[in-house]
Amino acid sequence: MNFTLTEEHLAVQEAAREFAKSALLPGVIERDTHATFPHEQVKQMGELGFLGMMVAPQYNGGGMDTLSYVLAIEEISKIDASAAVAMSVNNSLVCWGLEHYGSEQQKEKYLKPLAAGEILGAFCLSEPEAGSDATSQRTMAEKHGDHYLLNGTKNWITNGGTASVYLVMAQTNPELKHKGISTFIVEKDMEGFQVGKKEDKLGIRGSDTHSLMFNDVKVPLENRIGEDGFGFTYAMHSLDGGRIGIAAQALGIAAGAYELALAYSKERKAFGKPISQHQAIQFKLADMATEIEAARMLVWKAAWLKDQGESYAHASAMAKLYASKVAMDTTIEAVQIHGGYGFVKEYHVERLMRDAKITQIYEGTSEIQKIVISRNLLR
Ligand code: CAA
Ligand code: FAD
Repeated sequence: MNFTLTEEHLAVQEAAREFAKSALLPGVIERDTHATFPHEQVKQMGELGFLGMMVAPQYNGGGMDTLSYVLAIEEISKIDASAAVAMSVNNSLVCWGLEHYGSEQQKEKYLKPLAAGEILGAFCLSEPEAGSDATSQRTMAEKHGDHYLLNGTKNWITNGGTASVYLVMAQTNPELKHKGISTFIVEKDMEGFQVGKKEDKLGIRGSDTHSLMFNDVKVPLENRIGEDGFGFTYAMHSLDGGRIGIAAQALGIAAGAYELALAYSKERKAFGKPISQHQAIQFKLADMATEIEAARMLVWKAAWLKDQGESYAHASAMAKLYASKVAMDTTIEAVQIHGGYGFVKEYHVERLMRDAKITQIYEGTSEIQKIVISRNLLR
């Protein structure tokens, strides 16, 4: 195994780091306070190629590998985890599925502008009664000749208000349970489609999370992705890769908090010396750095397996499970190292601590990752 990043990887990492510092850091506290989506910055991310990184160049993508993608997500999440989740959803849950399972016509019409970052996409699986229990889809898609009529509600949809294109899982044949689920491409201006209320959240407050309502939305047959009944497998395959992106987001949140805590510990003096000279603080830093490195190795391994064409569902679940725990543990310790200053917004670590929590919930809670991992172990 080779742990040395190539020139290309280093260049992507540096570009993401530079962008995060120059474009995302200014205003990140205000966007968190007022729950403002970083419209301008996400537009710039599109222009820089961060929204379709792994898509083939013929569809306006960057043609990069998954390792480049996780390096970029880590750097962006160090500064702004809300921008990172918009990026992760567009890359791994929207573009990836369209590129792998979409028709040529769907790729021309939807993938090209999504990969170029001209528009944003959303991935709509969760419902009020179907979160972890994702096979219990209630949204219905009834076939009428050359189109389907979609009815139902989706919950918690990232990019929900900002997206132009929505990939929606719905039941076409409830008797077949998960084998009766299909995926549809819905455009924002289709009649009967409505964006519901924006959620007021604990963390990733700059991210745009909405419920969505479908009331007799007429979706043309050619907007179904793949065969009828392929939707659940489609969603699971997409999430296998999506979880690598969220694991990288968790890693970035942890690494960002650690970097702030390390710098602060060298500046802040107590009992006549920098707090970094107290062994209790040194041990915290040692634990944080070790756990972050372990999380990074799991994230890179999952990305590497995906790039090798090997199976990666197990590795991506492990990476997400572990990196999200490290994000939570590390950000709590980063606040502790900052003392009272850690408890106020100006020092960033309290926001990173609030942002960390979602990484244990979305794209499959930690309990669900353990189900995925243990089923693989016991198969
Ligand atoms: N790839 C392909 N197929 C898969 C699969 C995978 N990774 N995982 C499961 N399947 C298939 C199974 O093989 C099975 O098919 P067959 O019956 O044909 O064999 C079918 O799916 C159902 O699987 P299970 O019997 O294991 O179903 P289950 O109900 O017991 O559990 C689950 C499934 C793993 C818990 C799944 O429902 C799950 O992942 N839940 C979490 C949902 C989730 O992650 N949601 C995220 C929403 S998106 C999001 O959150 C985005 C964001 O925040 C930014
Ligand atoms: P539930 O499934 O009700 O779970 C509640 C608790 O029970 C959890 O602790 C869970 O782990 C546990 N639990 C459930 N089943 C089991 C079991 N079998 N064994 C052990 N424990 C179990 N979804 C999308 O489709 N698209 C998005 O873009 C998206 N973005 C999101 C953004 C945010 C900010 C949030 C909060 C959520 C988002 N989600 C999105 C939804 C997210 O994926 C779900 O919230 C998540 O999958 C959990 O589902 P739930 O909230 O219904 O919790």
